[in-house]
Amino acid sequence: MLDFREVTFGYPEDERLMFDHLSFHVDQGEFTALIGASGGGKSTIFRLINRFLQPESGRILVDGREVSAAEQTGRKKKNRLLSGDEAYCGYMPQRDLLFPWRTVEENVMLPMQIRKERKSVCRVKAGELLGRVGLRGYEKKYPSDLSGGMRQRASFARTLAVGAKLLLLDEPFSALDAITRASMQEWLREQWNEMDKTVFFITHDVDEAIFLSQRILVLTGRPACELKEFRVPLPADRTRDMMEAAEVRELKEQLSELLRKDALQWQEN
Ligand SMILES: Nc1ncnc2c1ncn2[C@@H]1O[C@H](COP(=O)(O)OP(=O)(O)O)[C@@H](O)[C@H]1O
Ligand SMILES: [Mg+2]
Repeated sequence: MLDFREVTFGYPEDERLMFDHLSFHVDQGEFTALIGASGGGKSTIFRLINRFLQPESGRILVDGREVSAAEQTGRKKKNRLLSGDEAYCGYMPQRDLLFPWRTVEENVMLPMQIRKERKSVCRVKAGELLGRVGLRGYEKKYPSDLSGGMRQRASFARTLAVGAKLLLLDEPFSALDAITRASMQEWLREQWNEMDKTVFFITHDVDEAIFLSQRILVLTGRPACELKEFRVPLPADRTRDMMEAAEVRELKEQLSELLRKDALQWQEN
């Protein structure tokens, strides 16, 4: 579904490369978590996938199609978006970024309106999506009327409205309080179980990564040349108490140790 092949990238302001011939992949239908220290380049990986940034070399493929940021600047980019170019990924950032002056429904309608779908059709589809995320009855409310968890669910509905099979979720729950966050994690697992979507989820929280995903990729080092990969020893149908199992605790210890070592190297450099 997602294929990084020997991708090299550095920010122009930065003398050191961020990624040096980095390769990894995410399989179709998989729930994969990406963890790493803050500032390590996790969000940069998403910016490369959704063409905000362009690699210096290497290839990025989504669903077998090459994704390239070439010529995607200024006016051209705008035209491409407005021309109804088929979206290959939906992106959800840490802060919900809902437009405060649009109702919840109008926010969810936005990606479909950009695709120039008929307004009445957009409204029906937005209603269905809001029902899916448990926000039926909130169509005409404004984002400021919703709690943090509800806003994230509305934002998720908008991400689904893009219609892509690949969902890029960038620390979507990190601004929520602990209890809301735990219930949102369970909610997201259910959503994923019911949908035919590939989820690539960024977090710096080891517990969150384990509870949510089937596979964890760890981003370490600068430049990063590879991602370390771990299988999560939990079944598809999982509950919180399984987090106490010996193998899970072992994995947690391993991951925490990796992140600790990486943080130490940062301090030295
Ligand atoms: N537009 C930019 N120009 C230069 N450097 C940037 C830019 N955006 C991010 N960076 C740098 O790249 C590093 C990684 O950023 P980011 O991918 O956001 O990390 P993460 O999501 O893992 O916290 C940070 O140290 C940041 O200073
Ligand atoms: Mg980030």
